[in-house]
Amino acid sequence: MKTKLLGFLDRNSKQCQYLEWQVVDKLQGSGKSKRDGWSTELPMAGLGVEVINKMKDEKQKDVAWQGKCSGTVYIAGNEQEGHFSLINEACSMFAHTNPLHLDVFQSVVRFEAEVVTMTAALLGSKEKASGGQICGNMTSGGTESILLAVKTSRDYMKVKKGITSPEMIIPVSAHSAYDKAAQYFKIKLWRVPVGPDFRADVKAIKRHINRNTILELGELASTYGICLHVDLCLGGFLLPFARKLGYPIPPFDFSVRGVTSISVDVHKYGLAPKGTSVVLYRDHDIRKHQFVAVTEWTGGLYVSPTIAGSRPGGLIAGAWAAMMSLGLEGYLENTRKIMEASKRIEKGVRQIPELFIIGRPDMTIVAFGSDVVDIFEVNDIMSSKGWHLNALQRPNSIHICVTLQHVTVTEDFLKDLSDSVKTVKANPGPINGGLAPIYGAAGKMPDRAMVQDLLVDFMDSSC
Ligand SMILES: Cc1ncc(COP(=O)(O)O)c(C=O)c1O
Repeated sequence: MKTKLLGFLDRNSKQCQYLEWQVVDKLQGSGKSKRDGWSTELPMAGLGVEVINKMKDEKQKDVAWQGKCSGTVYIAGNEQEGHFSLINEACSMFAHTNPLHLDVFQSVVRFEAEVVTMTAALLGSKEKASGGQICGNMTSGGTESILLAVKTSRDYMKVKKGITSPEMIIPVSAHSAYDKAAQYFKIKLWRVPVGPDFRADVKAIKRHINRNTILELGELASTYGICLHVDLCLGGFLLPFARKLGYPIPPFDFSVRGVTSISVDVHKYGLAPKGTSVVLYRDHDIRKHQFVAVTEWTGGLYVSPTIAGSRPGGLIAGAWAAMMSLGLEGYLENTRKIMEASKRIEKGVRQIPELFIIGRPDMTIVAFGSDVVDIFEVNDIMSSKGWHLNALQRPNSIHICVTLQHVTVTEDFLKDLSDSVKTVKANPGPINGGLAPIYGAAGKMPDRAMVQDLLVDFMDSSC
């Protein structure tokens, strides 16, 4: 990798070269093989049940995430108890089922249908304004739900409006799953700057609409007869409850005219096992463009609803178990706790004079930056105290996505954050092994194609 990078480096100024070397060295360092002793072939004699002990040993090497990770694990408590163990039992009971064989596994077929309709009901399907035709499917996660919504919108717009060179408009802050969808499905992507409040800038979006636009975000969709996807991957199992509890939440679901599809993850605030999401459509006319039907295969007639062929019935069962066991009251109670923890964290961050809050947190993500200290150095000190927060760019900042895991540790978080800011202020500069230089430098490197190459090389050496 180094030789290849040197070629790029020759083209740049000394200042850029320095920045690039920082990033290169760091990425190469963190990408170094940790694979010594990893199996490369099947063991000659199988381990039998002993394999479970070996797996327990491996699991112990994972970092301690309990209460310390932004997002990531949304269920409260520890993995052996309560809701965790209920989900584990539900998943293992159906681990060997597959809804592809719907004649065999009627149980999971029913679970999937019920997860979809119950989710749709949370997002406006029972409102008159929805049109009463909301339908959808379960997928493997937020990214698959977004990929499917984009592909379906593209094919729907091709039939409805004859669009063959599709374009899609999103705010610059929208999840990178849209980039994936644009690359996979050959759609031109416009990432439009957000306003000073970090919300979608409707005027800027309007300027990008043309006769090839298939998908955008904003109330313009129905005026222009184009699709509008709402990414509720994170918020779908929280906002409906927050609104019922009286928090001020703007309209976001199928009761809004023009919304044609929604992605909503059960594996986040739905407290379901990882690998569960739902993609919903305004009506069957749109959704039918999601399906693949094959008539000429020698293997017989084939039709499949989502990207995967075989699908994990165990996860579908886990999602159903989560929703049925918690019920409306369970989600309301959880949401109240998470919202209160988020408000407490927001208030606490505002009381640290060196920090400022980014935007206005309506929900459970609190992002903050600083004009006084290097926020990535603060993040490194927080990491040394066991926290795993998310580093953001433009502007440089970090965020915590608050979950049930944080409800009992908000004061610990705020104390550690305040101490970390003090440490960096008294002692600015990168700490040994910290990631501040890589984030700082990568953000400043003018050659973005090179940053992209670095990321791809890093991935290539990691898997
Ligand atoms: C708003 C939003 N959209 C999409 C995704 C992608 O979801 P997944 O990682 O399940 O593919 C995420 C993940 O955090 C998200 O927060």
